[in-house]
Amino acid sequence: MKKLKVAIAGAGSGHTPGIVLALLKKDDISIDEIRLYDIDRERNEDIGIIINYLVKKYRYDVTIVVTSDPKVAFEDIDFVFTQIRAGGMKMRELDEKIPLKHGLVGQETCGLGGFSYALRSMKGFLGLIEYIHKYSPKCWILNYTNPETIITEVVRRKYPDLNIVNACDMTIGIEDIICKTFGYNRKNWISFYYGLNHFGWYKSIYDIEEKRDILPEIIEKILKNGLDVEGEEKSWAKTWTNYRRLLEYFPDSLPNNYLEYYLFSEQIVEESNKEYTRANEIMDGRLKKIKDTADKIRHDPDTDEVGYDSSSHGNYIVDIASSIINNKNERFMIIVPNNGTIKNLREDVVVEVPCHVNAKGVEPVSLDFNIPDFHKGLMEAQVASEKLLVDAYFENSYQKALEAFTLNQTVPNAKVAKIVLDEFIEANGDFWPDLK
Ligand code: G6P
Ligand code: MN
Repeated sequence: MKKLKVAIAGAGSGHTPGIVLALLKKDDISIDEIRLYDIDRERNEDIGIIINYLVKKYRYDVTIVVTSDPKVAFEDIDFVFTQIRAGGMKMRELDEKIPLKHGLVGQETCGLGGFSYALRSMKGFLGLIEYIHKYSPKCWILNYTNPETIITEVVRRKYPDLNIVNACDMTIGIEDIICKTFGYNRKNWISFYYGLNHFGWYKSIYDIEEKRDILPEIIEKILKNGLDVEGEEKSWAKTWTNYRRLLEYFPDSLPNNYLEYYLFSEQIVEESNKEYTRANEIMDGRLKKIKDTADKIRHDPDTDEVGYDSSSHGNYIVDIASSIINNKNERFMIIVPNNGTIKNLREDVVVEVPCHVNAKGVEPVSLDFNIPDFHKGLMEAQVASEKLLVDAYFENSYQKALEAFTLNQTVPNAKVAKIVLDEFIEANGDFWPDLK
């Protein structure tokens, strides 16, 4: 097996141990070197301590490099996992709290918070791609950076031929909680899902043992019993509890949970805590755990109280990498240019659909049906607002940004769109492009 050199960009994330362990445990990939890259040196140092500890504990034969130098990180690599969060959790907190203050949905990737993040993320991600492209132009980029439809769109406009795979683990999250609740095994499923990222629907779930589409049965079960939220983090427990409401209104297909922010925006705002949002939960949870764990290892290098394992988030992206390296042609939900995959949707948009992944890259599975008008209408408005935001980024256009904000389906009128846009310009400072 070829020994591979891999980088993780945005390695200071609380998700990194789960990805690294997934990578090292994968038996059809052989890793020589992992380079942990982050511009936040302190967080990267903490992660480095944890990763080195885990490598030693489980006796993996791999070199770990901790760096904030792009040349050291990206020169001569085979793969890079990109998961950056421009502005960090502090800015996510503002993305969530500023819209909420004005009575709008405050969320990481949806609504105006998602747009605030998107303008930072486009700038940060294109900067990162420039480095990767300079030091390893042929390497594969496996991207988790959000908001993913917009990141995919901005990258394809600037680098149409880049070796990049944009993936999101949300469909896996939906499938996992359904399996946990009702005792199914996802390994037996051939799922068909379509939409935009964080904005789509399952059309069918074929079970290879049952030899039939079990989607109607799953919908019926959720409608009757709801999902099992025991052991889920507080915000996610709420999301999965709300999931049933989406189905009560629209029982014909299984939606992405993120649609609740658009279809039930008012209720979401009412149910939100304006002072303590998901970003606060993460700073007090996942990020604090990283800091505390690194400190524990610094204090006692032989401690055996370090609770990290490979995560399903990590396994998903590593499985995709393995399908490329080993030309396995496995099937995943990937975010790709439409180009006729969904026939009754404009071609020049980015969609999330099942794709086969092999050494050549990603091959989308075309839909052999037209998507219904309800889904199409929702998607078209979303796509137009996201495209306007990408235009605003490239053209430094305040006007286009205002149009994007106004068209967002969590926003009731232009007046509040403008108020929130102006407040975000202030809050984001140099993280955003100049809008004139
Ligand atoms: C899912 C989504 C990601 C999103 C994450 C948020 O995994 O697919 O795109 O970033 O949830 O989770 P968090 O724990 O950060 O709120
Ligand atoms: Mn996602």
